[in-house]
Amino acid sequence: MEAVTRRHLEEALCGEALASLRYALFADRAAAEGRQDVADLFREIGEEERREHFREIAELLGLARTTVENLEMALAGEVTEHRRLYPQYAGEARRVGDDAIAEQFIELGDDEHRHADRLRGALAATETLTGVALVV
Ligand SMILES: [Fe+2]
Ligand SMILES: [Fe+2]
Repeated sequence: MEAVTRRHLEEALCGEALASLRYALFADRAAAEGRQDVADLFREIGEEERREHFREIAELLGLARTTVENLEMALAGEVTEHRRLYPQYAGEARRVGDDAIAEQFIELGDDEHRHADRLRGALAATETLTGVALVV
């Protein structure tokens, strides 16, 4: 695959992911405003973005690999978020006086830390299982 095509697929992947999540949020809002018809519309389209468009593009990019590789990739992302990105974002928000948002970044970082711990646990369990399988 040419680099330009890969870049466009990666951009499309992000667009489909964001559309799906955005429509879930919009559906909740429409339901809260009593517009169940619009809520259903957003949910239906959002599901298609996720189940069809995102998946098809992800398949072309080879996004999902083996479970061990997926655990490792997810763990790396969560670790980057909780050790580097969110602390950096919090620090910069605080520096410019956005203190409440800085606190939110700290909370997000704490959640990502928990996500990382859980993924690390699943990875360790997988390695144990693999070890058992090898012994047997
Ligand atoms: Fe789409
Ligand atoms: Fe996370």
